Parts: sequence; C-alpha cells; structure tokens
Amino acid sequence: MEEQKRSQFSGKIGFVLAAAGSAVGLGNIWRFPYLAAKYGGGSFLLVYIIFVLTIGFTIMITELAIGRKSRLGPTKAYGALDSKWNFVGIIGAIVAFIIFPYYCVIGGWIIKYAWVFISGAGAAAATDTYFTEFAAQPVETVVLQMIFVIATGIIVAFGVQKGIEKVSKIMMPILIVLSIIIAIFVCMQPGAMDGVKYFLLPSLQNFSFQGCLGALGQMFYSLSLAMGIMIAYGSYLPQQESLESSVAQIEIFDTVIALLAGFMIIPAVFVYSGGDPAALGKGVGLMFINLPKVFNTMQFGSIIGALFFVMVLFAALTSTISLLEATVSSACDSFKWSRKKAVIILCVVSIIIGIPSALSFGVLADFQIFGMDFFSFCDFISNSVLMPIGALLTCVFVGYILDTQIIIDEIEGGELHNHPFKRKKIYVVLLKYIAPIAILAILVSSILEGMGVIAF
Ligand code: PHE
Repeated sequence: MEEQKRSQFSGKIGFVLAAAGSAVGLGNIWRFPYLAAKYGGGSFLLVYIIFVLTIGFTIMITELAIGRKSRLGPTKAYGALDSKWNFVGIIGAIVAFIIFPYYCVIGGWIIKYAWVFISGAGAAAATDTYFTEFAAQPVETVVLQMIFVIATGIIVAFGVQKGIEKVSKIMMPILIVLSIIIAIFVCMQPGAMDGVKYFLLPSLQNFSFQGCLGALGQMFYSLSLAMGIMIAYGSYLPQQESLESSVAQIEIFDTVIALLAGFMIIPAVFVYSGGDPAALGKGVGLMFINLPKVFNTMQFGSIIGALFFVMVLFAALTSTISLLEATVSSACDSFKWSRKKAVIILCVVSIIIGIPSALSFGVLADFQIFGMDFFSFCDFISNSVLMPIGALLTCVFVGYILDTQIIIDEIEGGELHNHPFKRKKIYVVLLKYIAPIAILAILVSSILEGMGVIAF
C-alpha cells in the first residue's frame, strides 16, 4: 500500500506564523518583562537579543533541519539520522508531553479572566484574594483546563494546513494588532514614561551573571526550543523554503512581542504603584493579581483588560497547539496512529495528568514532590532539567557524532533549492563550542536552584 503523504504547511508565511505562534506565549507576556525589569533593563535586553541571534538561532535552525531532513516527528527524527541517538528526540517529545497539561491549566485561568473582563466584571478580579480563591476551587479550574485541552485538540485534529496554519494565520495578526494598541494606550498614561525608562535604560548595577543565565533560559523557553516542537514543524516545511530566513522571521516576531509586552506591563504597573518596581510581582502574581488591579484603576481599564486577556488567550492557544502537535506527530510516526486517534488519546491522558496540576493551588497544595507541588514539579522537571539535557545532546549529536555537513546541506536546501547559508562558519562554532557550554551552565544552575542550593 502506498504510504500516506506527509502533510505540509502551504508555504513560508503559514509556517512562520505557526512557529511564531508557538514561540509567542506566556513566556513573552509575563516572564520576559519581569526578568528584564529585575535584571537591569536595557543591559538584560541587549544580552537577551545577542543570545537569540546566536545560540537561539543555532538550536532552532538545527532542530528545523533535523525535522525537515527526516520528515518525521521528534520520536523518530533523530533515529532516522543515527539509530543510537533516537532517544534525544524522545526526550523532546516527553518535555512537550509534560508541559502541555499544566500549560492548559494556566490556559483555563486565562479563559476565566478573559470572560470576567468581557462580561464587565473586571472590578471583581481586582481584589487581593480573588485569584487565590479562584485557583483553589477544584471544579472550575479542572473544567476550564479540560476546555482548553479540548479546544487545542479540535484545532490539531484538523491537521497542519486546515487546523494549525489556519488558526495561526487568524490569531497571530490579531495578537500583534492588540499588543500594539494596548502598548500605545498604556504608554500614553501620565507617568508611564518612568516605566519605559526603567524597562529600556541599562542599569549596570542590576546586571549580573545570574542575569545572563536568566536571559539564556528565557531565550530557550521563549523560542520553544528543545521540546520537539521545531522538529515537528520543520517536518512539515516545504523543501523550497529557506530555513535561515524563516528562523530570522520567527525570532523577530517573538522578540517584538516580548518588547511590546514590556511596553504594556512595566509602565502600567509603574503608573499604578507610583514607580515601585516591586509591584511587578512575579509570574502568576503579576498577570492574575496585579494587572487586574492596574486595569481597574485605568481609564477604559475594563476594555483594555478584556483586550489584554483575549490577546493572552491567543498567545497561549497557539503555544499549546504546538505542544500537542509535537506529541501527536510523534504518536502518528511511532505507533502509526491516525491523527484523530492520536489527538483523542493524548488529550484524554493530558486531561487526567492535568488534574493534579489544576488542584495544586487548592486541595493538593500539600502534596509535594521534592518540596514542590505537582504543578511546579512538572515545570521544574521539563524546563529546568530535561530541556537543557535535550538541547545539549542535540549539540553534541549534530556537532560531533553526525557529519555536521548533512545538516548544513539541509539548511542550504540541497541541489534543487540553493539557499546560501550566510552564517555557516559561526553556526559551526556556536554548535560545537559555545552553545554546549552555555547550556551546561543553565543546567547546573537551574538544578541547584531547584534543589534550593542557590537562590536567584
Ligand atoms: N514559547 C512559549 C512562550 O514563550 C512557551 C512554550 C513553552 C510554548 C513550551 C510551547 C511549549 O511562552
């Protein structure tokens, strides 16, 4: 029987928007502005951008090339190049599979907040205890997480072109327009310029080695690297498209949205708090506790709040789509399941695994693994441990075990499609020497931090 033809993106725009959709997510919106503010504003930005253009570029183009060369999902792609190294791709797919359920828990919270603001009840969300009380409720959080998983599943079930590409082509342009509107509105508020200055002006005394490691870790997370995603998406990229320029476009998209998020969040919090950077809070607290308070005091705040949470909803959904696709493409290639069967099975399992994460802020708060609740444990094991290990092994494999020229040939497009690889020399240096050392530094520091040995 003839083998079923592998799906493809219709072209470069669809591919770039889908990959940028994966990259742009909660990491850009809450994590980036918070880290930039903490680690010295402009100096952090500069280091971050250098990492994106060097190490980020190297890992992303390598993963896309592995995917396109093998035309397989992550759990088979490395094996197609060297059977002994197949496990590296399996690590990537496992990372995606661990992240997906708990990312959908946050997705569920975002649905709730978008709904609260759209229905005009935003003021209620501005009280101190609203979020903690909501997140502790078992039924609502589990049901919302399920809805987020199912919504992602439906889109992925439609396939690469009719599902992922179509949704990305609608959501990503809306996301960028909303980000620009909100950022401009916030920056026009009286007193906002102090926040903009704090965000952009380099402050050397806040800058440190930890800041560099923070920038590096953020870069991996933000570009969705080392989780099988870019391998899966690369496997659907038509042969004639240039990998080098695609990576540049994805990186520009991701960085611009991170900057816009900084322009909306830091000045908004500054205006609200009278210039106190501590009000930026951290992670979950910033987005679900402090920002609703800021919106509540702002003119047209309920409209801006509603637009903001719709934007975040789109950002999160295009990211969960890519997480699910990394595991679905793996299941289809490894077990020969149909796309629909893979989506149904993986979504059911993810809903079940997501339940303890959804309950981590309430009934299961005391259920601890290595001193972490289930939600934080999933985050730690995937982002701080497995992700750097996968990235490091990818560098070692492509840099030392495989003939690197195989990947370079793929990047150049082969005989038929000639795309000169402009950054070839620096790519090889980064891949073999600089990236592995940098990744090892993140791995060691994040494990020590997770174990409570050091605190950043
Ligand atoms: N890159 C996404 C962001 O910046 C996060 C993400 C992580 C997406 C894991 C998919 C998988 O938020």
